[in-house]
Amino acid sequence: KNIVILISGSGSNMAAIARTAQKEHWPDKLGVRVAAVISNKPDAGGLALARDFGIATDVLSHRDFASRETFDAALLARIEAHAPQLVVLAGFMRILTPGFVEHYAGRLINIHPSLLPAFTGLHTHQRAIDMGCKVAGTTVHQVTAELDHGEILAQAVVPVLPFDTADTLAARILTQEHLIYPQAVRAFFALKKLSEA
Ligand code: GRF
Repeated sequence: KNIVILISGSGSNMAAIARTAQKEHWPDKLGVRVAAVISNKPDAGGLALARDFGIATDVLSHRDFASRETFDAALLARIEAHAPQLVVLAGFMRILTPGFVEHYAGRLINIHPSLLPAFTGLHTHQRAIDMGCKVAGTTVHQVTAELDHGEILAQAVVPVLPFDTADTLAARILTQEHLIYPQAVRAFFALKKLSEA
């Protein structure tokens, strides 16, 4: 079974999944492997990280496309080359078209740095601080056509501390993301196996 991970940036969540897959021997034990990492940004730091794990990488720049629809169609074709059971968004900073989301319904997941349903969209850390939240966190969820909605699969909570900035809070949340995202991916395949049994 193949996983394709989409990134746009540093790819630390992608690396956490790849590291866990390696450490826990997912290919042998679960028959699951990270088949490819695809970035919409040619300079995404995560591409080099993926290569270090021996994962195939691919770049598809959205700037080369006139519309969201044509970009998503090309992206879908690149993803389909790996016939994945699961597509993982890990810091992928593009909104996907309803057609794309529909194609992968039930097997497209994302991690969002807030305790959804609170703080969908951008600048989640600063908004949590500005609202005086005493806790913040992160959510792994199914992707649906509506941004940052979809069934919640996993969450982790962290405290918001008195002198937090968006950066210090983001770092605390990221540490938790690196724990729960690999767990959620593993659970996805475990539950799938149960439902097929
Ligand atoms: C994470 O905080 C994730 O929640 C958000 O973007 C960030 C990606 O970081 N969607 P990385 O590229 O995985 O390091």
